[in-house]
Amino acid sequence: MADILYINGRYTTTDEKVIGVEDRGFQFGDGVYEVIKFLDRHLLFVDGHYRRLMSGLEEIEIPNPWDADSFSEMCRRLLERTAFTDGILYIQVTRGEAERALFYPEDLEPTAIAYTRRFPFPDATKKERGVGVITMPDIRWKHCNVKSINLLANAIARKRAQRAGAYEVLFVDSEMDVREGASSSFFAVRESRLVTHPTGPAILPGIVRHEVISLALAETIRVDERPVHEYELYRLDEAFITSTTQGVMPVTHVDGRPLGSGRRGEITRLLQERFDALERSSR
Ligand code: PDD
Repeated sequence: MADILYINGRYTTTDEKVIGVEDRGFQFGDGVYEVIKFLDRHLLFVDGHYRRLMSGLEEIEIPNPWDADSFSEMCRRLLERTAFTDGILYIQVTRGEAERALFYPEDLEPTAIAYTRRFPFPDATKKERGVGVITMPDIRWKHCNVKSINLLANAIARKRAQRAGAYEVLFVDSEMDVREGASSSFFAVRESRLVTHPTGPAILPGIVRHEVISLALAETIRVDERPVHEYELYRLDEAFITSTTQGVMPVTHVDGRPLGSGRRGEITRLLQERFDALERSSR
């Protein structure tokens, strides 16, 4: 079924083919994106997503197609036209369309698109069961704080995980420090503390990561922002990944071996409950 699509100021549906063959997003992966969850037609943590989109655009020097008001207006009009109440809003801005060359003209009009889509968010059974992950060297570029649409390394990694019977990968750097998943942030639990990689160019500053850290601190759970070493994975009590579409998702196995008890841990369950409640109260 076609979804409602926004493209450079007008509204259509995803049935219409709107992108030119020389759009730099298509040819070079030259752009950034956001995935925002909505419940009851209400966008969750939209300010954080908007800020991250703006800082990504600034970092790769693509002009911002929206100010805060026109962005809200675009979101409002898309949701108004959407037939379902819960789903995701996908937003992508590329540098625009120009004759193919690495050098780009200075005055390009960015291509801004957005559409809403239904999404199978995990149910209670999946949230309790959790997922398995595999470890893999981080073969991405050096600016992972930018939510680049160039997801080739992430896509290859996820395919590898799927072939290994796992859901997600953990990207490990040359120091054997665990960074994050292909589309999620990573948290370890050890001796009742959370451990997660500090923000910076090595990871995406996850919106759910940020909320979960605040929720943990409110529960007086200590949070250490430092990388987890790959060897440490087998000494953890619990672990979980976080993302807009998965929320807080327990990690039960790494490379086919049980992590901790091999089942969802108590701190993971508590933070999952708190985060789900926060989502419900933010809608
Ligand atoms: N991915 N790290 C990476 C590399 C990601 O791609 C994502 C999100 C996250 C979690 O960020 P957030 O909590 O803001 O969703 C971390 C989105 C959901 C995606 O690609 O679909």
